[in-house]
Amino acid sequence: MYNLLKGKKGIIFGALNTHSIAWKTAERAHEEGAKFVLTNAPVSIRMGDLEKLAKKTNSQIIPADATSVEDLENLIQKSMEILGGKIDFVLHSIGMSVNVRKAKLYTDPSYDFSQKGWDVSALSFHKMMNVLYHKNAMNEWGSIVALTYMAAQRVFPDYNDMADNKAYLESIARSFGYFFGRDHKVRVNTISQSPTPTTAGTGVKGFDGFIEYSEKMSPLGNATALECADYTISLFSDLTKKVTLQNLFHDGGFSNMGVSDAVMKKFE
Ligand SMILES: NC(=O)c1ccc[n+]([C@@H]2O[C@H](COP(=O)([O-])OP(=O)(O)OC[C@H]3O[C@@H](n4cnc5c(N)ncnc54)[C@H](O)[C@@H]3O)[C@@H](O)[C@H]2O)c1
Repeated sequence: MYNLLKGKKGIIFGALNTHSIAWKTAERAHEEGAKFVLTNAPVSIRMGDLEKLAKKTNSQIIPADATSVEDLENLIQKSMEILGGKIDFVLHSIGMSVNVRKAKLYTDPSYDFSQKGWDVSALSFHKMMNVLYHKNAMNEWGSIVALTYMAAQRVFPDYNDMADNKAYLESIARSFGYFFGRDHKVRVNTISQSPTPTTAGTGVKGFDGFIEYSEKMSPLGNATALECADYTISLFSDLTKKVTLQNLFHDGGFSNMGVSDAVMKKFE
């Protein structure tokens, strides 16, 4: 380990179980010397294993529904009290589409479900940054990262309305990132991660076939959750201070591929 986050304080959203990208990021942040608060929606804390992660990383848990500004205000205030000062890094690792869960087609959604999914998966990022910004809760040269997927730029039919939510999320990173950079010297980026076998990932229709396709298309193969955690740690560290307003592909090269030999073989 490299002590990359020694002395840094953070908040990590979205660790549900050992498969979660946020779980691996918390483990790596702990190894790199950070102190942080773990948070998730109350129902996910009841259903998941967050207590185990908290024990392992000597962290406290503060429940917060990321769509509730009131919950976020409480979370950020209490986190600063627990950690003894302002925050250096925040991970937004949250996604959920009710239309996907209820097997609604992209062409025939429930708009109530669309709104809920957008609030959880995209607008929550704005709400979270809004509270951090107005509470002046981030240290200078702090770093905020959200996780996204390439369906924001290209068509992946089974990704459903999450494609639109991710496009909105990435836009928030740029727009809020401008104000956060100008006023507080804080950087804001999104990481566009390979398909990854987590609870959210495997909920997408056709995931098994798709992850295999993606593996065969990527010259370096799919990026794992642990590799995503490593990349996230680099963005929280002082080694990436001038990287901001970016959507950073962490996908083994998939996003720049047209076709690969391995995929062509299936058709020859
Ligand atoms: N798994 C993939 O294939 C993949 C690929 C690219 C990007 N991502 C993104 O990575 C992020 C993390 O997902 P994951 O794959 O680790 O799956 P995961 O299911 O482990 O994590 C999703 C988290 O979102 C949390 N969440 C849902 N509603 C919430 C709410 N109202 N308030 C607070 N938290 C809430 C869940 O409790 C859960 O912890 C998501 O943004 C996801 O879209 C995942």
